[in-house]
Amino acid sequence: MTGVSTAGTGIRQRERMLNRSHTRRRDIGRVIVAGMLAAALGATGSASAHDDATQAGAEQFYLHCGVCHGIAARGDGPLAALMHRRPPDLTGLARAHDGEFPFQAVYEVVDGRRPLAGHGDRDMPVWGKLFERQGSGAWSETIVRGRILEILIYLRSVQR
Ligand code: HEC
Repeated sequence: MTGVSTAGTGIRQRERMLNRSHTRRRDIGRVIVAGMLAAALGATGSASAHDDATQAGAEQFYLHCGVCHGIAARGDGPLAALMHRRPPDLTGLARAHDGEFPFQAVYEVVDGRRPLAGHGDRDMPVWGKLFERQGSGAWSETIVRGRILEILIYLRSVQR
């Protein structure tokens, strides 16, 4: 389980850094993410990559998920090889569900606060809890939903 705690710490540190250094770093980050996305999607030139929500989701995915699942969600992030349980390729979720992206199920897996029947302990962080801490009071739940929805919109756009 060392992989998970290492990742959790790294991600939190990265968020603190991002929060501190406001817009300039953010803009630079955006450009980097846009470049990586363009590289990842370049061949297909997917129009949805230019969509705002997809772009926001791509940034969130890059920040929080890419280290394990890889920027293009193919299960090949830099941490993947070190993990006890390999992070799965997330680009085949729709194909595995009769061509329809299983929005609700993926939402619940990512959120993770409600234990799912038949799923043992997880090696993936409980994102609902982590995102909760980014908001305060009544806004926490809105932040959680917004973050997860953006990420899901991105994930849906990379299904193949
Ligand atoms: C520390 C590594 C790690 C990070 C970071 C991570 N995951 Fe995962 N993820 C996993 C592992 C490992 C699994 C396999 C199930 C398990 O062990 O929990 C998984 C499973 C999943 C699944 C279920 C796939 C399936 O076929 O059932 C989804 C969806 C998913 N992750 C989405 C995300 C999203 C979205 C993020 C970012 C918000 C994220 N993951 C961040 C490691 C990670």
